[in-house]
Amino acid sequence: MEEITYTREFLDHFKNPRNTGEIKDPDGMATVSNPVCGDTMKLFLRIEGDRITEIRYKTFGCEASIAASSVLTTLVKSRSLAEATALTPEEISQALGGLPRVKQHAADLVIEALEEALDDYRARRGKGKS
Ligand code: FES
Repeated sequence: MEEITYTREFLDHFKNPRNTGEIKDPDGMATVSNPVCGDTMKLFLRIEGDRITEIRYKTFGCEASIAASSVLTTLVKSRSLAEATALTPEEISQALGGLPRVKQHAADLVIEALEEALDDYRARRGKGKS
């Protein structure tokens, strides 16, 4: 069985997760589960103009999904929607100093949650206009 070692950056985010919790009446939100392991992320966005001004989450899962959720929020907060949309699982892994191979799907989970929350925001905004 592959031994899992975590980097300093990873342990920092796992032990001191940033931006946890919920946003009341969010502008976009999503709940995403990994079908294989069952880890679940609930993501909330506050968007003003073209910028994500607040991002919070509740993640139920392993240490990798917690650390990936936390680092996602630090990479996305204050970014434009275009910058957030361009974020990749590889950048999540890199920001954590490299995720172990068997935990790479934690990065996929948080990017999928971000994409769905942004889709939710666009859908709500579209409805508001009609
Ligand atoms: S075990 Fe799958 S993301 Fe944690």
